Amino acid sequence: MANVHYMNHPLIKHKITMMRKESTGTNEFRKLVEEIAILMGYEALADLPTRDVEIKTPIEDTVQPVIDGKKMAIVPILRAGLGMVSGMLALVPSAKVGHIGMYRDEETHIPHPYYCKLPPFIEQRLIVVVDPMLATGGSLIDAVNEIKAQGGKDIKCMCIIAAPEGVEAFTKAHPDVELYIGALDRCLNEKAYICPGLGDAGDRIFGTK
Ligand code: PRP
Ligand code: URA
Repeated sequence: MANVHYMNHPLIKHKITMMRKESTGTNEFRKLVEEIAILMGYEALADLPTRDVEIKTPIEDTVQPVIDGKKMAIVPILRAGLGMVSGMLALVPSAKVGHIGMYRDEETHIPHPYYCKLPPFIEQRLIVVVDPMLATGGSLIDAVNEIKAQGGKDIKCMCIIAAPEGVEAFTKAHPDVELYIGALDRCLNEKAYICPGLGDAGDRIFGTK
């Protein structure tokens, strides 16, 4: 699928393996989420346009590239997406941050939106939606629906672990959106958890279970 990018970097693979381990505690888990967001963000932003500017080094005047183009918005899906924000801000400190609140019903697995606040001029921004888990795809599909409804056009999504079912559903719903995946897992189980996955990302980041 043209718009899906799978990460191949050994550092990303290693860190995802460390995240998966049941024995990894909250503190280390959070750090890994942040580090993986930096590494994935580096890959996802590789096509940012640049323009040349004149600068002066201690040696001479020169023309050199800087990032050009649109301003950025990072949009985590609450709660677990919050864990990826600091990593993205380390790459692009000037980015604005929006929030989309969504929780999955435990029985039906259908996402329920409960909050949405996006930065102004969203239609002019590059928007990077972050959520560690893409399971059925329902949460990410609805989040991008909402962003598009508010005028967002240039959208990328970053998920650390995805199930094939979620990738298929998402690309069908939003074929125009670039999707960056850290690891593609085997399948969903009967509770719509990703296998082998890492369990509940929100609970592991915030220590709530
Ligand atoms: C998790 C995860 C995604 C969603 C993925 O959030 O962070 O948002 O599930 O599942 P889906 O692809 O089937 O929609 P959850 O709803 O558990 O909320 P939380 O982050 O508050 O724990
Ligand atoms: N949400 C999670 O946090 N983990 C899964 O495996 C599926 C959805």
